[in-house]
Amino acid sequence: MKLDGFADPWEHTRLLSDAERNQALIALLTRHSPGNRVVEVGCGTGLLSCISAKLGAKKVWAVEPTPLWELAAQMVEDNKLGHIVEVLEGRVQDVEVRPVDLAFSELLNGDPFFEGVLSASRAVAPWVVKGGILAPRRLRVYGALCRPYSSAHEVELAHEQLRPLGDAYDLDLRGLRDALRSDESYRQFSHIEYPVGPATLLYDIELGSDEEPPESMYAILTANEAGPISGAMVWFEADYDDNLVMSNLPGTPNHWGQLVLCWSQERGVREGEEVRVQVTVEDEELDIQYLP
Ligand SMILES: C[S@@+](CC[C@H](N)C(=O)[O-])C[C@H]1O[C@@H](n2cnc3c(N)ncnc32)[C@H](O)[C@@H]1O
Repeated sequence: MKLDGFADPWEHTRLLSDAERNQALIALLTRHSPGNRVVEVGCGTGLLSCISAKLGAKKVWAVEPTPLWELAAQMVEDNKLGHIVEVLEGRVQDVEVRPVDLAFSELLNGDPFFEGVLSASRAVAPWVVKGGILAPRRLRVYGALCRPYSSAHEVELAHEQLRPLGDAYDLDLRGLRDALRSDESYRQFSHIEYPVGPATLLYDIELGSDEEPPESMYAILTANEAGPISGAMVWFEADYDDNLVMSNLPGTPNHWGQLVLCWSQERGVREGEEVRVQVTVEDEELDIQYLP
């Protein structure tokens, strides 16, 4: 989801519904707000910036590019926090640098790079004074094989439907059949898929630095049981502070779910088989493809 999506209050309802997420961010603010200068990159509704002020921050800059900045500004006014919290309309890349002790954001996504956490962290890093904190400061992305039911089965079912329709109406459907066997993964966000193999660390990136994921790389994902596989899933861990990690690890309660990349064909694997995949990041979208 790019910036437009965040103008929709539903997106903020979803993330604010996530108690673990909220608690982790508030733990960070509790540790590092008192007496400090803070910037929130992407303040959305403005709630966390106001909480930072209530926790004793001496100055908070709340940066927000979507029209929600007006809601944030209203919240600041309603709570008489205007002497501490200043809402800045724009992307962090486009506003003037200010010195802060804490720069924080929550630009995480089931598709880990999709909300621009790398470029926003790089843009805000110069705001952080020596000894200050950039949060999150490190992002690890993991991948594992999985067995999503839908896509490969749907492809089979669609082909089964087409065969008699072509015969019944005397249509040449070869072009259509080829077109329906897409090489691209079908992308889902799911809370119900589970990995069928151990996690492979795909990226470990220092946020705020110039590090970028390669546009394309090979990786090995291992199957821990014999049977069909039909995709790969992805999750992240973001280091916010010492002993403060935010993650959408499968099986944990979180609003993100996991990015599931469904392939158009099932493949049979042996227990312990190492499957070679191609991992790409294009326009901040991650994909994992099976390599025959
Ligand atoms: C996932 S929401 C988090 C909102 C709020 N920080 C919270 O945790 O409740 C991310 C917010 O960051 C904003 N955003 C995205 N890219 C940004 C950028 N480059 N600079 C500033 N804000 C950005 C979005 O518009 C959105 O409101």
